[in-house]
Amino acid sequence: MDPAGRTPVQRLAILISGRGSNMQAIAEAARTEHWPAVIVAVIAHRDDIAGIQAARGLGLPVRILPLSPDLTRADHDRALAGCLDELACDWIILAGYLRILSTDFVQRFAGRLVNIHPSLLPAFAGLRTHRQALAAGVKVHGATVHLVTEALDSGPILAQAVVPVLPDDDEERLAKRVLRAEHRLYPVVLRGLLEGRIAIDGCRSHWRDAPADHDPLLMLMPEAA
Ligand code: GRF
Repeated sequence: MDPAGRTPVQRLAILISGRGSNMQAIAEAARTEHWPAVIVAVIAHRDDIAGIQAARGLGLPVRILPLSPDLTRADHDRALAGCLDELACDWIILAGYLRILSTDFVQRFAGRLVNIHPSLLPAFAGLRTHRQALAAGVKVHGATVHLVTEALDSGPILAQAVVPVLPDDDEERLAKRVLRAEHRLYPVVLRGLLEGRIAIDGCRSHWRDAPADHDPLLMLMPEAA
């Protein structure tokens, strides 16, 4: 907070690898809810992905960091870190970013590197989470927003959205339901983080001053559609 009690404007970078629908949900929420934040870059390795076209359509600054077979993962991550430092980013938001980040990178940005994963972690880490959920026969599925640590999909959990798994679901139907939940969950959590409303204690977190009947970090979404 500054002396006038305002949250200082936070600088956000959003890293994507494909469709970019979470990036769009975040950008839309930031704009319409007047977040104390500015999206300083949408970053990807390729220019020709739908998410980058969408970012340009929204007037967001874009940075492309091409992958080269001549460079190692560490080289790529150093270039990415250099870009984030140059942009003076406060928060690095992974939104469908498919590359695994190196330990050095994760440690350098620890505590301000956030990801959304399409399952109720720790269940179904990795890829094809909706297929994994259907194969396991679970009755509920969903999405998790977490801080990123060195171990894949296992950093401190900040928030979860829960959706039902219905008897006639296939991967596509379930994925759509979870994605709708992601688009509601991720902006709420990010706004909470940048406004300092989320207290993180080891692997546990809570919303400061949450009303007794509503925890913004737990979204139960019973709608079947
Ligand atoms: C989302 O399901 C997200 O949870 C996962 O990758 C997907 C990205 O989708 N990490 P989009 O690019 O945001 O549309």
